[in-house]
Amino acid sequence: MALNYSAFLALLLFMIIINLNSFGICQDDDLKNGASYIFGDSLVDAGNNNYLQTLSKANIPPNGIDFQASGGNPTGRYTNGRTIGDIVGEELGQPHFATPFMAPNCTGRAILHGVNYASGGGGIMNATGRIFVNRLSMDIQVDYFNITRKQIDKLLGAANAKDYITKKSIFSITVGSNDFLNNYLLPVISMGARITQSPDAFIVDLINNLRGQLTRLYNLDARKFIIGNVGPIGCIPYQKTINQLSANQCVELPNKLALQYNARLKDLLAELNDNLHGATFVHANVYDLVMELMTNYEKYGFTTASKACCGNGGQFAGIIPCGPTSSMCSDRDKHVFWDPYHPSEAANLIIAKQLLDGDPKYVSPVNLRQLRDL
Ligand SMILES: *[C@@H]1O[C@H](CO)[C@@H](O)[C@H](O)[C@H]1NC(C)=O
Ligand SMILES: *[C@@H]1O[C@H](CO)[C@@H](O)[C@H](O)[C@H]1NC(C)=O
Ligand SMILES: *[C@@H]1O[C@H](CO)[C@@H](O)[C@H](O)[C@H]1NC(C)=O
Repeated sequence: MALNYSAFLALLLFMIIINLNSFGICQDDDLKNGASYIFGDSLVDAGNNNYLQTLSKANIPPNGIDFQASGGNPTGRYTNGRTIGDIVGEELGQPHFATPFMAPNCTGRAILHGVNYASGGGGIMNATGRIFVNRLSMDIQVDYFNITRKQIDKLLGAANAKDYITKKSIFSITVGSNDFLNNYLLPVISMGARITQSPDAFIVDLINNLRGQLTRLYNLDARKFIIGNVGPIGCIPYQKTINQLSANQCVELPNKLALQYNARLKDLLAELNDNLHGATFVHANVYDLVMELMTNYEKYGFTTASKACCGNGGQFAGIIPCGPTSSMCSDRDKHVFWDPYHPSEAANLIIAKQLLDGDPKYVSPVNLRQLRDL
């Protein structure tokens, strides 16, 4: 009897040890919903540029006026409320928004709940956004993830860290618009590049750089990716204003370049799904999604898809950026665009919802909830 009892105890102890070993990271309840590691430009920057000496800044009112966590104070987000990355993290049950890598509190266990590397003005190419003096381009953002990667090893131990990153972490990349708007299409500054490089050659360069950046993330154990294509950048209030278009017109060249890039991006993601073993690259069709929002804006509860809520100048308030002295609409959730360049939180909510639960028209081969559960 006594022997049986101690044998039972030994067995119990053995089972507890096995349990601790194989479910090490699941013991931490706050890690069960995983993390978002967010890369890209001002569409998803959550405050990195606050810490850079740059002309591209959003930590000035009235940006953030509808951001509840800050009491309506600006945070460095280029919109009135949450970005798509914020909303997705919230919906997936992550305990708090991904912390900006540059922020002083991006330390300790906070990094296990997600880190945001995105930077206003940043692009795939190093030269993109040079007019802002400073920004984090994609190469640097991946360098920074490499730093985070080592910190996660320290926090969880190498084996659990690898498990957490491959199975529980979603890597989102929202980039490319600035490579056109603040690089290839810029007059004067990029004249040289435009004369020496055809659109097609420039786009091939973009895709080759992006392939390298995504492969580096894969080599750091990223497996679950979502990559947004470039939206209809010829339809933003800034473009409509400076080209003196009417409300439902868009500038052709930027949209044409975006579509040309998007076609090659789709091929790249198919290629990486074939070649990088164990990885899933989800394609987010932001172009069609935003086009649908703009075409049928009334159906989605908006009153305008052409006029910026916050900004000044011209018919669509599209010349002077959003700031303390610019005018602001009173019905912020009725505008597709918050400022001359960026969607409102109301638009971000619709886009995020589609990426989370939408069908293959907008997100493929799986949506974000399915990607999380893979
Ligand atoms: C880090 O600081 C920012 C800005 O003060 C704050 O909004 C955020 O909630 C903090 N994040 C964490 C994880 O403490
Ligand atoms: C871009 O800058 C990074 C970091 O400074 C550097 O490692 C990389 O080689 C550069 N890429 C190109 C294409 O020049
Ligand atoms: C990460 O950093 C280490 C040096 O600490 C370097 O050897 C390695 O190549 C880097 N990995 C990537 C993917 O950049």
